[in-house]
Amino acid sequence: MEKNESNIEENPNNFNKDEFFHSQNPEFQETKGPIGMKNSENDPEEYNHLKTIVSAFFNYQVDSLRDVQRMERDFESIDKKYKERMSFNYKERIEKIKKAIWQNYTFLLKIAQPYKSMFKIIKASTGEIIMEPLLVQPKDIIKMRSTLKLFIRDWSIEGNFERKITYEPILTELKNYFKDEKQYEKGISVLIPGAGLGRLMYEIAKLGFKSQGNEFSYYMLLSSNFILNNTTKKNEYMIQPLIHSFSNVYNENSPFKEILIPDENLYEELIKTQTGEMSMVAGEFCHVYKGNFNCWDSIVTCFFLDTANNIIEYVETIYNIMKIGGIWINIGPLLYHYTEIENECSIELSWNELKYIILGYGFDIKSEREVTCTYSSVQDSMMQTVYKCIFFTAVKIK
Ligand SMILES: C[S@@+](CC[C@H](N)C(=O)[O-])C[C@H]1O[C@@H](n2cnc3c(N)ncnc32)[C@H](O)[C@@H]1O
Repeated sequence: MEKNESNIEENPNNFNKDEFFHSQNPEFQETKGPIGMKNSENDPEEYNHLKTIVSAFFNYQVDSLRDVQRMERDFESIDKKYKERMSFNYKERIEKIKKAIWQNYTFLLKIAQPYKSMFKIIKASTGEIIMEPLLVQPKDIIKMRSTLKLFIRDWSIEGNFERKITYEPILTELKNYFKDEKQYEKGISVLIPGAGLGRLMYEIAKLGFKSQGNEFSYYMLLSSNFILNNTTKKNEYMIQPLIHSFSNVYNENSPFKEILIPDENLYEELIKTQTGEMSMVAGEFCHVYKGNFNCWDSIVTCFFLDTANNIIEYVETIYNIMKIGGIWINIGPLLYHYTEIENECSIELSWNELKYIILGYGFDIKSEREVTCTYSSVQDSMMQTVYKCIFFTAVKIK
């Protein structure tokens, strides 16, 4: 992910259960408006950044069809004798891909629709009224597709196996640490920096905590906002995020897998909790929380620590904003994101070195173990990246 994906800072968008759906509380939508729009109005750089990302949503179909054309061309280019040896009709496959692209595009348009006004509407030479031509960089096309794929991890039944291994131990630690019912009544606050598509934040709220996500990527913010605020039932949308790769596939039908999201009715689930609340704050973690001191009961970092330019600054921020006696729960690898990125600082510490720093700030590491897991993986793919993650809990003792 890119540094400063979003520089915006917004007040928490309260997704608490009483104002959960825009449709149930239209005022909520009218006053807030699309995420990032209001904040970026007076900041041309931020506005253009947001526009670039929204362009990737609007241009998904065009960008994807360009790849399909290449695939079509390649199939066409081979000799007839090779085509005859194929067990399948490649033209049918191409048509199936096009249909899947359309399916995904319809979904992405729903997310991007509120941002339509950012784009000029022009009259084409054919007389058609169209949106100004959008130019999306390859890196944004990749990000758009990986965001689409991330819906599997966070919001589908297929993502359950990953969530069970990664999110479940965190939820268990939280429940155990705050098991005294009385503490729940006080409203235990849990912060999740790098909240991604928001599932962990939502699961923590379901347990009755005051759960706040923080995220700086507009890809994530727009998508999580949509799923958290605009879905009204289980399995409301069908997407096919795997159609962009036919590599490492055992079964030719696998890339066409239909993914239903969300895998539960969020409103129905959240309404069951008396104390649970959700909010999301947009912006860079250290920057957004630098003025907060001793106010969080818990901080949960899941596949987040290695996204830092300077991981020590993350530890310092976590230390500063956590209450004495608060618990930090972490799971993730140390795959430093800025390694080998030119002009980007990247402080790469081993787990032992990092532990020394964590202890030095005033944390007591209560537990530490290895958890083997994948991240946004395709279960039946021939290729799997497996992380032996460090899972630890640390209590701020001074
Ligand atoms: C590897 S993803 C993990 C997402 C989620 N926690 C999960 O487990 O699926 C890391 C997330 O952190 C976000 N992120 C990275 N650096 C950040 C920063 N400095 N402030 C806020 N968010 C950040 C990225 O945009 C990305 O969504």
